[in-house]
Amino acid sequence: MYRMIKHLERLVEEDKIEENDPIIDLGTGNGVMLRELEDFGFTNLTGIDYSPSSIKLAAQICPNLVDHLFQADILKSDERFTAKYKIAMDKGTFDAISLTPSDKETAIANYSENVAQMLEKKGDYLFITSCNWTTDELKKHFSKQFELVTELKVPKFKFGGKEGSSTVSVLFSKL
Ligand SMILES: C[S@@+](CC[C@H](N)C(=O)[O-])C[C@H]1O[C@@H](n2cnc3c(N)ncnc32)[C@H](O)[C@@H]1O
Repeated sequence: MYRMIKHLERLVEEDKIEENDPIIDLGTGNGVMLRELEDFGFTNLTGIDYSPSSIKLAAQICPNLVDHLFQADILKSDERFTAKYKIAMDKGTFDAISLTPSDKETAIANYSENVAQMLEKKGDYLFITSCNWTTDELKKHFSKQFELVTELKVPKFKFGGKEGSSTVSVLFSKL
């Protein structure tokens, strides 16, 4: 998480984003990402989660953001998913969604379409951390709506003669 937020800071320094750009945290859980974004100086934050208990918990962790937390299912169409965000953050939520055993393909397609719809314009960002997918796999999943900007370097490990990463953090931009 720290790595993702440090990268956002770099984008601020490079004048690619501003600290008051609207950011949505997808599947915010206990809101800890929002809390850290706040601590780093980002000021226009929203969190969504389909779990009411997550929203309650996030409201406790982020008391300044109670009016910016709402319950919503990213996979369903929702009139609140208006095109107003500059950055969508995802840490572990796409992983949870894409492991849905029932209809994985539809879940992935709906996620990608709905997230693209939340972003205001071409070039806006989806920043995702996954421990289930490689960058190439994420690229394929999102290829209709997003293109790769950069993959953050993460520590690699070696096991059984093969090299891998335990997680990937990847920045995409809206096509
Ligand atoms: C692995 S947790 C990650 C939580 C948080 N992002 C973090 O890093 O601590 C996944 C979160 O996504 C939420 N979630 C899963 N599927 C969702 C969906 N379809 N719509 C909204 N939230 C969802 C879960 O309720 C859970 O809080």
